[in-house]
Amino acid sequence: MAAALAVRGLGKRYGRVEALRGVDLEVGEGELVGLLGPNGAGKSTLVKIACGLVRPTAGEATVCGAPAGSAAARAALGYLAELFRFPGWYTADEVLALHQRLGRSDRGAAERRELLDLVGLADAADRRVEAMSKGMSQRLGIAQALVGRPRLLLLDEPTSALDPVGRRTVRVLLEELKARGVAVLLNSHLLSEVELVCDRVAILLDGALVAGGVTEELARPRGVEVDVDGGMRRYEHAGRADVPGIVARLIRDGEQVYGVRVLRSTLEEVYLDAVGGATE
Ligand SMILES: Nc1ncnc2c1ncn2[C@@H]1O[C@H](COP(=O)(O)OP(=O)(O)OP(=O)(O)O)[C@@H](O)[C@H]1O
Ligand SMILES: [Mg+2]
Repeated sequence: MAAALAVRGLGKRYGRVEALRGVDLEVGEGELVGLLGPNGAGKSTLVKIACGLVRPTAGEATVCGAPAGSAAARAALGYLAELFRFPGWYTADEVLALHQRLGRSDRGAAERRELLDLVGLADAADRRVEAMSKGMSQRLGIAQALVGRPRLLLLDEPTSALDPVGRRTVRVLLEELKARGVAVLLNSHLLSEVELVCDRVAILLDGALVAGGVTEELARPRGVEVDVDGGMRRYEHAGRADVPGIVARLIRDGEQVYGVRVLRSTLEEVYLDAVGGATE
């Protein structure tokens, strides 16, 4: 089966700015991929190309096998832009109805109810956008992206305005979507969040991929730390499998063991290594 999103040798030049320089990236069916990178790295440009809003200057992008921008590709995806604004006088329900008309979804009021429920806005169907908090309108934005049951969801920083509870709502939602087989490309600066939900991450710097891989494998083991009477003892090259042996030896030697921690480098460390402290 074709990947939900496949980009090959993707390049984009805006005049003298090279926003993307030969990017290869795939998001498989039902896979959740985090796209990371400093401001200006090219994340939004890549997503806009996938939507057909921006034309690449090199390479190609396909959505479920169809060329990006084609009717088939657009029908297969849902998109939440980084800076979006819905008309303030629309209610949540009307925003979704508008997008149902635009996307030709015929699933009516039942779909609108289901989506509002999914993003925790079941009680706000009649609330006007102008009377919503930032977090509410961002969740409405996510509901809008889900109209028409897309197979690929492109979310450009969907949680930037959310409080911790709102972020968790979205995290649970993403897991639910993954279980339903929806593929997601998530642009985000929130590394801890990406680390929690994404199967894979790709890190862009200056328009090129500089690191990436399975989230769990990227966060490398960094030894084991044991809390004993004399303080913390560090076993540099040990991993989880070595813990029982280490503890058994310590106890045999008459030590009191108060705690054990398997250390892993965080995604944040991997990211900072990859981008080398770069900012726009
Ligand atoms: N329409 C445009 N015209 C000219 N340059 C653009 C345009 N859109 C983006 N750029 C430039 O392309 C580069 C990549 O921008 P892009 O918005 O893709 O970055 P990003 O990774 O999404 O950044 P952020 O994290 O700030 O959202 C930047 O140098 C930006 O200034
Ligand atoms: Mg962006």
